Amino acid sequence: MKANLLYEGKGKKVFMTENRRGTLVLSYKDEATAFNGKKKANFTGKGRLNNEISAHIFSRLQKQEIETHFIKKLNETEQLVHQTEIIPLEVVIRNMAAGSITKRLGMREQTVFQPPLVEFYYKNDQLGDPLINDDHARLLCHISDSEIAEIKEKALQINQQLIHIFAGIDVKLVDFKLEFGRLPDGSIILADEISPDTCRLWDRHTNKNLDKDVFRQGTGDLLEVYQEIYQRLEARS
Ligand code: TMP
Ligand code: ASP
Repeated sequence: MKANLLYEGKGKKVFMTENRRGTLVLSYKDEATAFNGKKKANFTGKGRLNNEISAHIFSRLQKQEIETHFIKKLNETEQLVHQTEIIPLEVVIRNMAAGSITKRLGMREQTVFQPPLVEFYYKNDQLGDPLINDDHARLLCHISDSEIAEIKEKALQINQQLIHIFAGIDVKLVDFKLEFGRLPDGSIILADEISPDTCRLWDRHTNKNLDKDVFRQGTGDLLEVYQEIYQRLEARS
């Protein structure tokens, strides 16, 4: 099924497929990185957990009529997806203040954002993924004003679904990052992954971090908290 390596990112490898045109294989890696790759470590089993968690969430989003690139899980660490041209935009949705916004704008952690905030970052490792505005996104990402509006609307719809999915396992969705891709017909769909690598997930009762912040901040065991998210999701489905 898997043929040539097309691209290797920090969390995944992307392979061409041998016999299914228009599809790709995503292979989730065990490596964790933070601070634009400055901090790195290997966690045996992380790839499997992120593949399982992302497959679970994308399947549930699809049942709610949200179009995504996800087709099916192939094995423990790999999934088949529709090939898209990734729009170089990291779309961050914030329901509550945490992470970079507390530092950049001096906001108190846990300040609630209602409506949620949508932010765009330019996906460019060399530049360190800078925060950009809509005009920059239009120029740098070759998207129209109406596509920008569509991406924001989709991101907010996905947020509502994700809040519900995580509330069902006693987890608060603090913030998260999405990426969108373009299909050959020009339409824009949800791509990449949704996992504890790309979300801030806090236990509803204790506010314990159940995401990559335990690695970023060195405050806990990454595999243990990712396993916790996976088990809670599996138990409720
Ligand atoms: P931030 O607070 O560091 O801006 O992160 C906001 C959210 O985006 C958080 O849930 C983690 C996620 N994120 C990524 O998935 N990839 C990244 O490269 C960064 C910086 C954040
Ligand atoms: N994903 C980024 C990195 O690998 C940043 C982060 O998630 O903290 O460096």
